[in-house]
Amino acid sequence: MMKFDFEKIKKEGKEKIKKAKNLEQLKEIFDFYFGKEGKISLIFKSLKEMGGKEKKKIGQIANELKNFLKREIEKKENELKEKLKKEIEEREWLDISLPGKKPELGHLHPLTLITRKIVSIFQSMGFSVVEGPEIENEWYNFDALNIPKEHPARDLWDTLYLKNNFKSENKKNGKFLLRTHTSPVQIRYLEKHQPPFKIIAPGRVFRHEATDSKHEINFHQIEGLMVAEKVSVPHFKAIISHFLNEFFQKKVKMRLRPSFFPFTEPSFEIDILCVICQGKGCSTCLGSGYLEIMGAGMVHPNVFKNSGLNPKFWKGFAFGLGLERMAMLKYKIDDIRLFFSGDLRFLKQF
Ligand code: FA5
Repeated sequence: MMKFDFEKIKKEGKEKIKKAKNLEQLKEIFDFYFGKEGKISLIFKSLKEMGGKEKKKIGQIANELKNFLKREIEKKENELKEKLKKEIEEREWLDISLPGKKPELGHLHPLTLITRKIVSIFQSMGFSVVEGPEIENEWYNFDALNIPKEHPARDLWDTLYLKNNFKSENKKNGKFLLRTHTSPVQIRYLEKHQPPFKIIAPGRVFRHEATDSKHEINFHQIEGLMVAEKVSVPHFKAIISHFLNEFFQKKVKMRLRPSFFPFTEPSFEIDILCVICQGKGCSTCLGSGYLEIMGAGMVHPNVFKNSGLNPKFWKGFAFGLGLERMAMLKYKIDDIRLFFSGDLRFLKQF
């Protein structure tokens, strides 16, 4: 009697191989038959115990079965490999006609856009751009600008003082503070440069103020200073008028209103005809028809003296322009606090 049901093994094997879904499963089937303890391996092992005739007969059938199963496994292996190759190819196929994912690009902050615009207009008139420190000392922020200690004019600027005192061998002692305006840059430049010159100095300034729709504690100014032997108010008017027409891209009506700054004499406040209502009166100009945009004046003789220049020889004008206010007018923004709110709905409009 034959010990093994070869037909059954063959049928089962064929079925198993057919069902293998991947190369891992096929490897398991191979081991099941041909591994150390595999079904076919065990048949060959048992041949050793058999005698002549039987050994020959069973050996022959077992060999046929072995070859059959190996062939089937090999066929299946080729089939699975082919399938895998196709899958990989499909996965890696690149449809170059598909629209790409658009990287989201950032853009410049409205205040940066306005600064660049203003700077380029003044540069086109021959002004150089300079900078000064945001942490100043009392000398540059006040004293040198003709605002002595205990003078009530210091109250015009609500100042954020730092704890440390600034000490030097000359009179420039005092407290450190966050600059309340960009005017100290005038002194720093006058000290080191020989006129004639025309400069602008954009930068951040700080004031200890209550905020509202027109006032921030942290805002920007652009300081302007022109010094030469003969500079007068008409020069100033011509330059500012050209600047405003360029900035708003239309003829802007402006007026000089007498004012007071300790570092200019005479001093004025510059108002422009409200660009929103054209002078009729609206919420932006609070019904007055005019908007204040900057402080200005002719450089005070004491400012020249404090910077080591002879006021009999040199004349100049200076101005300080509120940058946020210019941006508000240009883009029709009704609340200054939006600039630093970090609100993307606001920022994405520029
Ligand atoms: C000054 O700061 C003077 N240094 C300007 C100056 C320069 C005068 C040179 C003469 C010669 P004032 O405090 O007015 O001036 O500020 C100037 C401008 O800054 C204002 O016209 C306004 O546009 C803007 N500004 C002032 N305070 C605030 C604030 N809290 N928030 C936003 N903008 C402000």
